[in-house]
Amino acid sequence: MWNIQIVKTNAPKAKPDSSALGFGKIFTDHMFMMEYEAGRGWINQRIVPFANLSLHPASTVLHYGSEIFEGLKAYRRADGKVQLFRPMENIRRMNNSAERLCLPQIPEDEALNILTTFVRTEQDWTPSAPGTSLYLRPFMFGNDESLGVHTVHHVEFLIIASPVGSYYKEGINPVKIMIEDEDVRAVRGGTGYAKCGGNYAASNRAGERAEQKGYSQVLWLDGVHRKYIEEVGAMNVMFKIGDEIVTPKLTGSILPGITRKSCIEILKKEGYTVHERLLSVEELSAAMENGTLEEAWGCGTAAVVSPIGELCYKDRKYTVNGGKIGKITQHLYDTLTGIQWGKTEDTFGWTYPI
Ligand code: PLP
Ligand code: COI
Repeated sequence: MWNIQIVKTNAPKAKPDSSALGFGKIFTDHMFMMEYEAGRGWINQRIVPFANLSLHPASTVLHYGSEIFEGLKAYRRADGKVQLFRPMENIRRMNNSAERLCLPQIPEDEALNILTTFVRTEQDWTPSAPGTSLYLRPFMFGNDESLGVHTVHHVEFLIIASPVGSYYKEGINPVKIMIEDEDVRAVRGGTGYAKCGGNYAASNRAGERAEQKGYSQVLWLDGVHRKYIEEVGAMNVMFKIGDEIVTPKLTGSILPGITRKSCIEILKKEGYTVHERLLSVEELSAAMENGTLEEAWGCGTAAVVSPIGELCYKDRKYTVNGGKIGKITQHLYDTLTGIQWGKTEDTFGWTYPI
């Protein structure tokens, strides 16, 4: 295993009040850092006091968006211990994102050791109030000091951590989502399946327009036909249409969410009919019109399981399940968070005590 040097801060910050956390605004005392140099590999692994970075103005990331990230959480169990949820899934997805953006991969066992060593250092920052956790943000960026467009030779990898509450101001209450029919997020062959910053930068215009109309986020349609449902800005989506639970299949342009995968596994184990398939916006609109759309929800690490109470498509507004959280949505939320916070037995082997 790589040796990780630990330099502790001599000015620890006061821990925040759990009731005022929000999402990603407060950061812990330390961060993990290491560099990659072509020919040498990953070097200089260290946990250091949280601080600003200093970058050369020509740094690749500032010009050509050479960046990927991950998002996972550490949860405080009732017995006081701290645990991660399916961390190897994040590590593998990060390496897939790295491959797509020609950034270097990190050996899985080293990545897990880095993550757990870092979380152990920062574990006192894991809040214990209901619905709170310590959000972990590993990220990597190209840092060559040159304006040529090419595969990078110098890379920075960091992990920062933020105690968080709910992502949406609505909490577990239903959010309003607008189906976007103008901008697209990603196309097959592009970077949709990778968790790279550029995907999010390109999403902001539509997100901004939706927010101005009172919606939390947009639901993307596929980039070629603008016909098939893909995902929401920060979460995958699922629908209960009649007796079927449908979620868009992974065609390469949407993020393979770990919460999505976990929801599918929970539902299948319980005998529900779950189909990963193409779902056109016409089919979804028809289900909204004829009342067979019983529930809609998003799922993601930050968003957890988030009911969708209203969908808007081409200025037509549809209320889902009377604007209330549905039975399956609530059940998924309870089951998933029960496992994550150690309140329910983890029969899947998903939790990872640190
Ligand atoms: N889709 C997008 C675009 C996301 O940013 C996220 C969040 O990570 C997800 C889906 C859900 O993925 P996961 O469940 O792995 O957090
Ligand atoms: C996550 O759920 O971890 C995400 O990355 C969503 C994010 C863009 C806030």
